[in-house]
Amino acid sequence: MYSVTYWKPLTKLQAMQKITTLLIALLFISCSGLTDKNISELHISSLLCENQDNPNHIDQASPRLSWQMSSEKKGQSQTAYRILVASSPDLLTEKKADLWDSGKIMSPASVFIPYNGRELKSGQKYYFTVKVWDKDGIPSEYAKPAFWEMALLNKEDWQAKWISAPRVFDWGKRDAAIKRAPQDSPAPQDPLPLFRKSFVIDKKVKSAKAYISGLGFFELYANGEKIGDHILSPAFTDYSKTVLYEVLDLTTYLKHGENALGVMLGNGWYNQVSNDVWSFSRAPWIADPTVLCQLEIEFTDGSKQQVLSDESWKCAPGPIMFSSIRLGETYDATNETEGWNQPGFNQQGWQEVRVVRGPEGKLKAQNIPPVKIMDELNPKNITRIGKNTFIVDFGQNMSGFIKLTASGEKGRKISFRYAEKLTPDGKLDQANIANLVGNSRFQTDEYIFKGGGTEEWHPRFSYNGFRYVEVSGWEGPLNEGNLTACFIHTGFKTTGKFKCSLPLLNRIQENTLWSFESNFVNIPTDCPQREKNGWTGDAQLASETGLFNYNMLTSYEKWVNDIIDAQKPDGILPGIVPTSGWGFHWGNGPAWDCALLQIPWNLYLYEGDRRIIANAYPSIKKYLEFLSTKSEKGIVKWGLGDWCPARAKTPAELTSTAYYYQDLLIASKMAALLGAPEEQSAFLAKAAEIKTAFNREFFAPQSGELINPTQTALGCALFMQIADSSKTKRLAAELKEAVTTSDYNLDFGILGAKYVPNALSAYGYKDVAFSIINTTRYPGWGNWVERGATTLWEDWDGKSSLNHIMFGDVSAWFYKNLAGISPDEKSPGFKHFNIEPYFAPGLKWVKGVKGTRYGDIDVYWSKSGKEINLKLKIPVNTTASVLLPPGNLLIDGKIPEAGKEGIIQFEFIKKKNKLELGSGTYNIRL
Ligand code: BGC
Repeated sequence: MYSVTYWKPLTKLQAMQKITTLLIALLFISCSGLTDKNISELHISSLLCENQDNPNHIDQASPRLSWQMSSEKKGQSQTAYRILVASSPDLLTEKKADLWDSGKIMSPASVFIPYNGRELKSGQKYYFTVKVWDKDGIPSEYAKPAFWEMALLNKEDWQAKWISAPRVFDWGKRDAAIKRAPQDSPAPQDPLPLFRKSFVIDKKVKSAKAYISGLGFFELYANGEKIGDHILSPAFTDYSKTVLYEVLDLTTYLKHGENALGVMLGNGWYNQVSNDVWSFSRAPWIADPTVLCQLEIEFTDGSKQQVLSDESWKCAPGPIMFSSIRLGETYDATNETEGWNQPGFNQQGWQEVRVVRGPEGKLKAQNIPPVKIMDELNPKNITRIGKNTFIVDFGQNMSGFIKLTASGEKGRKISFRYAEKLTPDGKLDQANIANLVGNSRFQTDEYIFKGGGTEEWHPRFSYNGFRYVEVSGWEGPLNEGNLTACFIHTGFKTTGKFKCSLPLLNRIQENTLWSFESNFVNIPTDCPQREKNGWTGDAQLASETGLFNYNMLTSYEKWVNDIIDAQKPDGILPGIVPTSGWGFHWGNGPAWDCALLQIPWNLYLYEGDRRIIANAYPSIKKYLEFLSTKSEKGIVKWGLGDWCPARAKTPAELTSTAYYYQDLLIASKMAALLGAPEEQSAFLAKAAEIKTAFNREFFAPQSGELINPTQTALGCALFMQIADSSKTKRLAAELKEAVTTSDYNLDFGILGAKYVPNALSAYGYKDVAFSIINTTRYPGWGNWVERGATTLWEDWDGKSSLNHIMFGDVSAWFYKNLAGISPDEKSPGFKHFNIEPYFAPGLKWVKGVKGTRYGDIDVYWSKSGKEINLKLKIPVNTTASVLLPPGNLLIDGKIPEAGKEGIIQFEFIKKKNKLELGSGTYNIRL
């Protein structure tokens, strides 16, 4: 017998019971791992090695690894990590880390973790991945693997030889010719050489990498094609100390059978021929252009082949007849040799190369992004000013050169002269920029047509600062399509953004970015036209602006190493870096020299980079010893001081002494970080001495007032925190008075331009700081805008260079005050940071984004009636202290409660609402 169960309708109670059972079962399933509760929702992205995405040129023994994370949850962070490094992707897939398995490390650190595995080898590729444990200790998946490749680590790895063209021009005559140059333009030189080498490949190529340096600059071709879009490469260094090489991937350019490599060289900074006041034509490294090239080919069967620059290469004069970083370039297309960089070329008539000693400097892989054409601009206006002469206005001041697309009869020469201004009668005016170079040719390119069709050309090894170009020798008409302006600079990524409701401030921000970018062509420069020099003061003043707006880590690290290279054994630093030897006794002083301390310190604050501190520290100690010899009873009387002031002059000893004090404080913090407590105490003791001397020297003993209370002096005493704390309130009020009662409003130079807005803001007068920036009154940033500036200028009047970055801290002020984002020294690199926006009257909204190692910090606020809406994004694995005005506030529509949804703390202190927030997006209503 078997029983049959018939379906019958369930009672209401039975149905409820069934549903409950089902729900419990579902809940059980979801908790029991079938939906994998054991894997965190935390997602790892962007694995970087030494700040770069899959780099192929790492030469650090312990490269530093970083990653970013994203999450749907609020308040998410990392509690532990595990890194795996393997020699092949397959091993990594199987989680077999044959080189390094860090094991589970209980740490929130997710940036700059030094590799700590087996020894890394030249030219090898390493694969890595990471998994992390989230705030609740739940592990994530392993990240999508990334890799890095080592460059050549040892001197012995280099088999190639430096080669140059045979010498034609007599070097004795060369020097004389350079000196004669003002009358004898241009300084004569040989046509620049081409080099070639052909070789045969008879196996399948797995990988091919060229390790190459060509000085001053080089272009590499493989089988006729130019490798990479780099220009002005490698980056400028003191070649007697450091020489950079690049690693270029040729894998897809090589083929079975005959192959050819071609190299074109430019003089660059290596073989300067202009007669400038900084003596670059007599630099210790000066020599004929030279190249070192080592091509390493690996075949699929595991065998290898090298192609090395040596006596077997051939050379010939190329079409570049003249090239100078400051004077310009002449290209004679009639001298082009068809097929010179291709296989099958008949190299009869090509000459033997010379094997040369090459530069003295240590070879290092170039770690900074190369200079590239970052933008192309069309002419805004073309005016004919003579029979064959035109003025082209690109509407924007910039660094770069023109690109020509045109046809012309064989042998026709056109010239391009570059400038920032026109004379009142519309002619090109180089007067404000050509005064320090003694050649009659300056910022001038020439092109000679080969004829027979459309020709495209831009200079290769030279660049200019310009907005206007005079084109002469052109039988019109000149059309828009014939010329574009190529804007070039070091290709660092833009990682910040500032925008607001006031067009004037947006234009000031844009002008600052144009100047910052134009003034970073391999090194930070003062101006892209007149000097192109790495003035240390300009760079340190603009460094926070750089760090807010761009990913500057490797570019600044490299330049700090350049400063270290430039230092003399007694600790003295030159005003420009790199230098030919000029500028040690020019009087730059502490406000300039402090780049050696300030930039590493800012890299620590903004990026969390400690290695640069360790690298710079020995030089910093040497420098401070040197600086102590310049101080008399604690006062440093040496230095340029507040350069390019509006009207009031501030004694240089006041600002120089304050910089000395600041240097000592920075050095003491560095000593603490490096575990040198005795040195820390010594620096602090010295700093206290200097502070006492400053307060004694610059304040009246009876009244306690600053003796010479210029805006810069007041700002300096406050900003540098060197005035006794008992005086600060009064000083701040005095500074406010000085600004508000001055018919000038703003009255300072480049140092005051940093101190005054920052000091006013720090001491409760953000409104006053805002008013001196948000105005078109003379003098000021807004006044430049009103007068048509598209970049920042060298002085308030606009009499000198029109593209200088030294007044450029204003952009950092926007981020720190209007968006309100600032780093926290106690938790550097924005692991923890502060947000305190200033809801300035007259501003309707502000958007500020700061890219960090952890992800983007995003602040957007807008006013609507009496309400303010503030939207914040805080990256995973970071926290932020948010300071807001008193009053009721809602977060995501609710009254904030500590411990809820990413809100770590909520309190009311010092008349402000203080929130401590974890990662996530928050909508706050005030
Ligand atoms: C440069 C400046 C620099 C200054 C120092 C000038 O010629 O252009 O930007 O800082 O000299 O004296």
